[in-house]
Amino acid sequence: MKRSQINQAIEIAAEFFAMMNFKLPEYAFWPPEKWRELGPEIDEIRDCMLGWDVTDFGSGDFAHIGRTLFTLRNGRHGDPRYAKRYAEKAIFNPEGQRAPLHFHISKMEDIINRGGGNVLITVWKAGEHNRPLQEPLGLAVSGIRREVRPGETLRIVPGESICLPPRTFHQFWGEQGTGPSLTGEVSSVCDDKTDNYFAEKRDRFPAIEEDVPARFTLVHEYPRPR
Ligand SMILES: [Fe+2]
Repeated sequence: MKRSQINQAIEIAAEFFAMMNFKLPEYAFWPPEKWRELGPEIDEIRDCMLGWDVTDFGSGDFAHIGRTLFTLRNGRHGDPRYAKRYAEKAIFNPEGQRAPLHFHISKMEDIINRGGGNVLITVWKAGEHNRPLQEPLGLAVSGIRREVRPGETLRIVPGESICLPPRTFHQFWGEQGTGPSLTGEVSSVCDDKTDNYFAEKRDRFPAIEEDVPARFTLVHEYPRPR
């Protein structure tokens, strides 16, 4: 990805969150110089990867395969300094842009439509060799249990949410013609370095071409204090 795309994606997402009256912490807007000055007092932000996360998953086609999100809280497996067992993300979910089909082995997550357009989500059970399984699955949409066909696409309208147990393949995006949504994710601890299993080979964090100066620092770029 180009740095200019990343800067622009964050500006668009931040503007949308503001329009939805969803406030971000101050560090969402710290410039790179500020990140370089700070010491161990912000270890939790660095170590739990809180903040902006923009990726095209190595697709080279950010408009269709990509994500712009902000991690608000998270813990870290096996690290007593970060005993939090839960995580929360705010995802800018425009029409037609999706993360690659994937599942998690550890993380259980609720995908929540907090307002804006509709969210469409396709789900499968993950079977042997981590392939989508052609059998129905039981899922809860806003606490209401229902049976879902393999690969079925469900519409999550504002206010509704879907709970995805571990080993559930999922892919979601904004429904065409309904506008972007503020999609929330509330989950158990999220380890984006090891707990994403993609149906096709993908990179969770892309290589970045520095065509312009960075305006923001991404969760995987935080400098360590000297
Ligand atoms: Fe996921």
